[in-house]
Amino acid sequence: FGQGPLAGRRVLVTSGPTHEPIDPVRYIANRSSGAQGTALGRALAELGAEVVFVTGPADVPPPPGVEVVRVRTAAEMREAVHAALPVEAAVFAAAVADWRVAEASASKIKKTGELPVLRMAENPDILAEIAGLGADRPGLVVGFAAETDEVEAHAAAKRARKGCDWILANDVSEGTGIMGGTENEVLFITEGGTERWPRMAKETVARRLAARIAEALQEG
Ligand code: C5P
Repeated sequence: FGQGPLAGRRVLVTSGPTHEPIDPVRYIANRSSGAQGTALGRALAELGAEVVFVTGPADVPPPPGVEVVRVRTAAEMREAVHAALPVEAAVFAAAVADWRVAEASASKIKKTGELPVLRMAENPDILAEIAGLGADRPGLVVGFAAETDEVEAHAAAKRARKGCDWILANDVSEGTGIMGGTENEVLFITEGGTERWPRMAKETVARRLAARIAEALQEG
């Protein structure tokens, strides 16, 4: 570490799911394993970057050679991301929960015979927020888009809406085996158009993306 095309460059990666508490013992989560984000953190570190790795409760351990910041909720992830700025590039690979329970119970909800009703509140969109920053905006902001239908159209619209530079879109329909699996098949979408990357190991996707990030930072 400390050598390579990204030496001296500070980059941020978010990874893993978030857990949104219902009460002290229960939470709402998603199936993200953290595999793609972890592979990316590793690949960036291998190119010499100083990586701040903000991770939710993932199935896989964080990669070596990065600064690990562990969080549970989307709100905590947002705080950690802001605290990591300024960075030259930020990649948002985390599967942040869209909603949290509006008022998590401070004590365990008891079985009373009456069914609990959970009122939800929307979580902040961390990627959109960071992409919309002024002076503190990272030079390169990259998002992921997990879609189940009309992948390219939805992801391209998402790139524009969120204001990020690049988006990697993948089809997470049941049967693709991507979410929680070892392989990924992505569309790499920029302002200039779409590249279809073949199905490959998540480590290979990570190395390709890390190389593109290195190129972009060297040009910029
Ligand atoms: O809108 P959607 O969740 O599909 O967007 C996915 C992208 O946005 C990912 O890069 C994800 O990390 C990021 N995101 C975020 N904060 C949220 C929701 C999504 O940073 N609350």
